[in-house]
Amino acid sequence: VAIYRKDYLPPDWLVPEIALDFDLDPDRTHVRSRLTVKRNGEHDRPLRLAGNGLTPLVVRANGADADWRVGGDALVIELPGNEATIETEVDIAPAANSKLMGLYASGGLLCTQCESEGFRRITFHADRPDVLSRYRVRMSADKARFPILLANGNLVASGDGENGTHWADWEDPFPKPSYLFAMVAGDLSANRDRFTTMSGREVELNIWVREKDLPKTGHAMESLKAAMRWDEEVYGREYDLDLFNIVAVDDFNFGAMENKGLNIFNSRYILADEDTATDIDFDNIAGVVAHEYFHNWSGDRVTCRDWFQLSLKEGFTVFRDQSFSGDMGSKAVKRIEDVRLLRAAQFPEDAGPLAHSVRPESYIEITNFYTATVYNKGAELIRMMQTILGPEAFRKGSDLYFERHDGEAVTCEDFVRAMEDASGVDLSQFRLWYSQAGTPRVKAHVEHDASNATAILHLAQSIPDTPGQTGKSPMVLPLKTALIGADSGVPQGEEQLVLLTEGSASVRFEGVVEPPLLSINREFSAPVLLDVERRAGELERLAEVDPDPFARYEACQELMMRALLAGARGESADSTSVIAAMRGTLISNALDPAFKGEALSLPTEGLIGDRMELVDPDAIHSSRETLRSAIGAALADELGRAQSVSISGADLSPQAKGIRRLKSVALSLLAAGNPERGAALAKAQFDAADNMTDRQGAMMVLASMDGPEREAAFAAFFERYRDDSLVLDKWFALQAAAQHEDTVDVVEALAKHPDFTVRNPNRWRALVSNFAANQWAFHHASGRGYRFVTDMILEVDRINPQVAARQVPSIGRWRRFEPTRAKLMRAELERIVATPGLSKDVFEQASKSLA
Ligand code: ARG
Ligand code: ZN
Repeated sequence: VAIYRKDYLPPDWLVPEIALDFDLDPDRTHVRSRLTVKRNGEHDRPLRLAGNGLTPLVVRANGADADWRVGGDALVIELPGNEATIETEVDIAPAANSKLMGLYASGGLLCTQCESEGFRRITFHADRPDVLSRYRVRMSADKARFPILLANGNLVASGDGENGTHWADWEDPFPKPSYLFAMVAGDLSANRDRFTTMSGREVELNIWVREKDLPKTGHAMESLKAAMRWDEEVYGREYDLDLFNIVAVDDFNFGAMENKGLNIFNSRYILADEDTATDIDFDNIAGVVAHEYFHNWSGDRVTCRDWFQLSLKEGFTVFRDQSFSGDMGSKAVKRIEDVRLLRAAQFPEDAGPLAHSVRPESYIEITNFYTATVYNKGAELIRMMQTILGPEAFRKGSDLYFERHDGEAVTCEDFVRAMEDASGVDLSQFRLWYSQAGTPRVKAHVEHDASNATAILHLAQSIPDTPGQTGKSPMVLPLKTALIGADSGVPQGEEQLVLLTEGSASVRFEGVVEPPLLSINREFSAPVLLDVERRAGELERLAEVDPDPFARYEACQELMMRALLAGARGESADSTSVIAAMRGTLISNALDPAFKGEALSLPTEGLIGDRMELVDPDAIHSSRETLRSAIGAALADELGRAQSVSISGADLSPQAKGIRRLKSVALSLLAAGNPERGAALAKAQFDAADNMTDRQGAMMVLASMDGPEREAAFAAFFERYRDDSLVLDKWFALQAAAQHEDTVDVVEALAKHPDFTVRNPNRWRALVSNFAANQWAFHHASGRGYRFVTDMILEVDRINPQVAARQVPSIGRWRRFEPTRAKLMRAELERIVATPGLSKDVFEQASKSLA
């Protein structure tokens, strides 16, 4: 059954107070709940409390047996008055909870995940984000097994009970929706630290992990403190409790969760040291720790009215964590990474059967809408508002938003209105970004009039149809634009912010003496697909001279893309200009290594496919490998120099990370140009590595080759890290991502490996998601890749539908592929839909992909 945004109604009953009492035990946890409920407005409807898999043992209203019934997934209670105290009791079994939603067991711990609708698996409750309550929580458990008892807010009392048990009382002074409830019990040790807020509040910080993992928590703690400071400085937001707890758990459906005062994390986004984590892992940890911390304001203090507004907190918070990471390292490189992710994950979503707007209109299962569109395109919307308003007005807008809505559950519209009210800028047309799905396309070309020293930029936009949405209106596209003199390489005038608001427009530039190079959509100021009519040599020149690093990166990438597409079409591709641009980048003294690493990374096979009418994975693969080997051969000396630089793994400065990044990019190109030399260099890099970044970079290259070096490296890696599950995930992931003809066989065999399990989401994704993202291997012409992924989806769906459903889109994109593959993919989707007992999560994704 679909739920529609337009059907929103305020809650019939409010729940100002909640008291919960847990007798914790993995096999049978007894839950007592006492809700204070108040009729909201004038109506005579009963109280409806959601429950999922719960059997009511006791239901009382005002201390007496209540008039209640169970209807569908709800407990329905008839209440005569306008206020009541409702008591319920249920038993739940955390150890049997394989969905990892609600209260579940992970490696001896008991922990919770409630967003979006997990709380109803713990106790009967309205469980919608616009019902905010103050929580009191009593936890009791066996003291030896569960020495640490944590919940939201502050610890107010604790003590020992009978039979070796103990208890703790927690109180959260901030009213919150049920999706922010959290609780953890287990044998944990803390990395303890402190933070003094800008107004002088002393906050106790704890990162809770198993004792043996304590040495790996330093980076997460530093990141947390940096994020707390940054939010004070950049947004004026201060932390509001005396205590901030983070817990790392091994079994977790997503990255992490912003529960008030008690963030719960997938351990992969907490634990790191240079021997076990790559530089990218370190950066991801900083980004996710900051993201969850930032939610304290953008999510917890100001929350969502309903789940259609999810981007209100996620888009904004992603934008905030992106800005934070940009400020901590290189802004330009961070922007390149974010755009790479947007293009890899969100553009295909917007172009496929599951396309939806940033604020969706309907859903069957809300968990399916935690998407790149809601998160990452949502973040682009906030970024565009900042670009249009300017940083000062944007800050005024965010201040007004927080001040106006503190303690409320609000909508995306409320956010935009705060921005308008604070800035005086009319954002009516901008709102289309929230409602219209699909990536806008922009055509651009420049006409130069040398005699008048003017240039005219012609622009036209179109918004493609998406499922259920046709005939769209033009949107506001903020395009940062500069014209650069083709001869001198010098900008002709200032960069301008061109706002394209009509279907088409022409913009006049004065003082353009030389023939201009068009540098447009700098910093990716609008998330659009650009189609620029260019003169011969224009991209080459831009790749050489554009002073804006992001634009220069784009020119390099576009140059490569043109060669790759030509190759994939079977045209003889000329690689000389690509090689020249890459040589220029490599030897430049002005560019830093991190930027070079990005600029020299060829567009992925997936990205090339997105630019083709119909994707032909084999043609793309051979075109890309041909270009890689041409580059590797032609630039062997320059690449060799970049690859031979060594820097201590203990050095985690942005500079050091950049050097390592470039080192592995260089290795990979060298190996493409000369496999024998590549294998030797990779083996040497692997053997000499004092850090996971170099080690993994070497393995990535070896994984795609034949020979004893590959076997030896993978065997050694396995022996060394077999007891470290996060590193073992990498061992699975690297093999699943290998560009090798035998990858399908390898992956099928790995699914039978004793260390593979469908019960741990990280392990499952290490194998299955990485394989499905490996275009050439997954789209094996035999259809074996599709069959494997489908089998895996169906297997995990029986125990954990959310993990299963997130993988369906990889098969759902069948219309984009050449007919043989399209047919095979479609058949697998049909097999999914025909499976008895399918979850509604997977059903929604698969059936929409077939429609
Ligand atoms: N709010 C969490 C975050 O982005 C993610 C929760 C994911 N929940 C879900 N049902 N998919 O930080
Ligand atoms: Zn989030």
